[in-house]
Amino acid sequence: MRRLLVTGGCGFIGSNFVRYMLREHRDVEIWNLDLLTYAGNPENLADIENDPRYHFVHGDIADRATVDRVLREGIEAVVNFAAESHVDRSIHDSTPFVRTNVLGTQVLLDASRKAGVSRYVQISTDEVYGSLGPTGYFTEETPLAPNSPYSASKAGADLLVRAFHHTFGFPAIITRCSNNYGPYQFPEKLIPLFICNALRDEPLPVYGDGLQVRDWIHVLDHCRAIDLVLQKGVPGQVYNIGGRCEKTNLEVTRAILNILGKPETLIKFVTDRPGHDRRYAIDCSKIERELGWRPQISFDEGLKATVDWYLRNQDWVERVRSGEYRRYYELQYGERLKSS
Ligand code: NAD
Ligand code: DAU
Repeated sequence: MRRLLVTGGCGFIGSNFVRYMLREHRDVEIWNLDLLTYAGNPENLADIENDPRYHFVHGDIADRATVDRVLREGIEAVVNFAAESHVDRSIHDSTPFVRTNVLGTQVLLDASRKAGVSRYVQISTDEVYGSLGPTGYFTEETPLAPNSPYSASKAGADLLVRAFHHTFGFPAIITRCSNNYGPYQFPEKLIPLFICNALRDEPLPVYGDGLQVRDWIHVLDHCRAIDLVLQKGVPGQVYNIGGRCEKTNLEVTRAILNILGKPETLIKFVTDRPGHDRRYAIDCSKIERELGWRPQISFDEGLKATVDWYLRNQDWVERVRSGEYRRYYELQYGERLKSS
């Protein structure tokens, strides 16, 4: 049995990854260390929580004692998803971003190195490269130029990972992915927020002129890429992951309204996000060439399936939006959560 520590496994991408790995690999056993912030929802993994190969640990990646305790389970590899992930929140208050994304990563790296894990994958983001003009792509060689407190904290973490590999030969790899969408995404991010608002005939707040460009990838394509990097990636390397699917925010907004049969009058242009990055576009030819990965889910197909998932899971949305989902954890695990 391969023993894996996944951090942040109750969030959007982490929960999809845990489910994917347990389904695809019979020989994998997973420890999921998650602090259960506002974005971490154990209900996201309700369907697998009784699997004997799954173990949930409530805790903080910045808490060395907890991390050491989990690593003593004989963990061979670590995948670090745990993070504060929302740009708008980092503009409001960057403190938890630096604490979790930078300090938490340092604690996890240090503990993993001392425990002798054979592989560590840092889940980073294309946002560390900053913003592009109308042409060109981010490659793995593009200099880091983060523009938001969120992306600065992710870049800080990436530099620590790089330094641990350089200084100690620690077998760490960094992945940098573009914008994910799919089931279980917290409805503060563009796609789930707009689906949920449109369903209630509430306005869709488009920032600025709505012509900012993002490169969209379905979360399961991202999970397949991480799985490959875990198995075949080369320590010390960075792998870009992207959907080869650039869309303006207005195009995404109209596509959602179109699937739901809702009018464009729901679009409301609002004040732009401060420091808003204009365009992200990933060159993912390295992972395609070296590891044989390709995105497989088209945006049209993936977006329809995602809209359908939110339609079928309105109860989940209501519980997440009201904070009521936290009761699920208390009922399951009998522990009270501090509000965070
Ligand atoms: P998310 O906000 O949905 O989930 C984050 C998870 O981390 C939550 O379960 C939360 O409880 C947990 N967490 C937060 N602080 C923690 C701490 N100190 N200790 C333990 N757990 C903690 O985020 P997401 O969208 O799933 O993103 C996951 C990772 O992927 C992040 O590192 C993010 O930077 C990166 N990423 C996200 C995207 C995207 O489009 N969402 C794209 C590229 C990279
Ligand atoms: O590129 C990868 C990154 O993608 C990840 O590292 C982040 O964790 C993830 O949150 C995401 O960051 P973005 O800032 O691109 O995602 P968000 O969904 O917040 O916004 C997508 C675009 O939509 C962005 O240009 C801002 C715009 N937007 C967003 C919201 C929430 C709006 O116009 N209105 C909105 O209400």
